[in-house]
Amino acid sequence: MRSYAKSVELYQQTRESLAGGVSSNVRYASTPVPLFFERGEGARLHDVDGNVHIDYVLGNGPAILGHAPKPVIEAVARSLADGQVYAAQHPRETELAQRLCRLLPGVEVVRFASSGTEAVLMALRLARAFTGRQKILKFEGHYHGWSDQAYISARPALNEAGPADAPVPVAGSPGMPKSVLEDVVVAGWNDLAAVAAVLERHRGEIAGVLMEPVMVNGGAALPAEGYLAGVCDLCRSHGALFICDEVITGFRVGLRGAQARFGVTADLAVYAKAVAAGFPLALVGGRRDVMDTLVDRGVMHGGTYNGNVQSMAAAIAALDELERDGGAVYRALEQRGTRLMDGLRVLASHHGVPMRVEGLPAIFQTFFTDGPVPRNYREAAACDRDRALAFHAALQEEGVRVTQAARWFLSAAHDDGVIDETLAAADRALAAVR
Ligand SMILES: Cc1ncc(COP(=O)(O)O)c(C=O)c1O
Repeated sequence: MRSYAKSVELYQQTRESLAGGVSSNVRYASTPVPLFFERGEGARLHDVDGNVHIDYVLGNGPAILGHAPKPVIEAVARSLADGQVYAAQHPRETELAQRLCRLLPGVEVVRFASSGTEAVLMALRLARAFTGRQKILKFEGHYHGWSDQAYISARPALNEAGPADAPVPVAGSPGMPKSVLEDVVVAGWNDLAAVAAVLERHRGEIAGVLMEPVMVNGGAALPAEGYLAGVCDLCRSHGALFICDEVITGFRVGLRGAQARFGVTADLAVYAKAVAAGFPLALVGGRRDVMDTLVDRGVMHGGTYNGNVQSMAAAIAALDELERDGGAVYRALEQRGTRLMDGLRVLASHHGVPMRVEGLPAIFQTFFTDGPVPRNYREAAACDRDRALAFHAALQEEGVRVTQAARWFLSAAHDDGVIDETLAAADRALAAVR
C-alpha cells in the first residue's frame, strides 16, 4: 500500500489556517485526504510522501503540454523582469489578441480575463446587453464556474431537479440568491426538441444559450449528430446568442476547439485552461457587433490582472508549441489518446468489467454501466459511481491519477511509454475492482 502519511499530517495542519485545507471545494475529492504535491514534471506529479503519479488530472485541464513545459516557463521567466501588471496595454497583449482572432472560429474580437468563471459572467452580460433580454438557457450537468448566475443545475440532486423533460433550475450552493433562478431556464442536453420547446415557450425572452459543446463536467458525452448545428440554427431564428463554453474543450480537443471539430460557429465563446498551458488566463471572443457593446454601450468589464504580462507571455509560448508543425501536438494527442481509450476498453472486456470509455482522445471518462454510453447528465448520473470511485482508488494505488469521477485529461507529455505504463496499471486496477 502506498503511504500518504505526510499528506495526512500536512492536511491536518493546513486545515487550521486554510478553510477546509483546500483553495477550491473541488479539491476535497481525493483519498485518503486531499493530497499534497511538491513537484510536477511532464506527465508526472511527485507527492510529499515520495509517491509518483502519472497525472491525468493536469490541474483539471490546463496542463496541455504537461507539467512545467520548458518553452512556456522559459518565456514566462524572461518576461518576469519586465514587470507584471501595468494597468495599461502592452505589445504582448496585442500579439496574443491578434493570434487568437486569426485562429479561433467566429472570433473577431477578444477580451481577456483571469478565470473561466469571470469570463462566463462577461459572456452572459454581453448577451443580455446585446439582445436586451434577461433569460439564459443552460443545460443540466454543464458547469460554467461557481458564480451565482452560472452555478445552477451543474450537478443537481435528481430528487430536486424535476422531470427529465422539464427540469427545474437548482441552485448549486447555499448562499446563492433565489432571484438568480428566475433568469435561468434549464434543459436536458443533447435533445434538440427540448431547446426548440424552451425557445418557443420563452419566445423573445432568451438572451443566450450557454453550453459546453462537449459535455465534460456532468459526465463526458459527445454531442449527437447535428445537435450543435441545430442549436445554432434555433438560436439564429429566435434572436438568441449561441454561447460555447470552451473552457475545457478549447485548445484541447483541437487547436480550434470543439467548434472547429464539430463544424459550428458560436456568437460568443469562452476559453481558459489550456490556452496558457497552466498560467491563469481566460477570454471571451466572438462577433464584433456583440463584443463592441463593451465599447459602444459601455458594458462594464474590468479586472486588475486582465492581460497581465506573464499570462500573455505564457499563452504566446503555448500557442507557438500548439501550432508547431501544423498541429503535431494534436495529432499525437489524438493517436495516443485513442490508443489509451481502446486499450482500456479491451482490458475492461478481458476482465469482464462493464466499463464504457466515452469522450475524445484528449479528454474522456470511464463509466461503469451495462447500458449504452450516457448522452446527458441524467444518464451519466445513473452509472455506477461507487465502482468509479473504487477504480479511481485502485488506479491511485497503481500510480495513476485520474479525477474522482474517472475523467482523464491527456497532455503532450503523455508519450507512448507513459500510455504503456498506464495500461499495465489499469490492468491491475481493473482486476482489483472486478
Ligand atoms: C466548462 C467550464 N467552464 C467554466 C469553468 C470555470 O473556470 P475557472 O475554474 O477557471 O473559474 C470550468 C472549470 O472547470 C469549466 O470546466
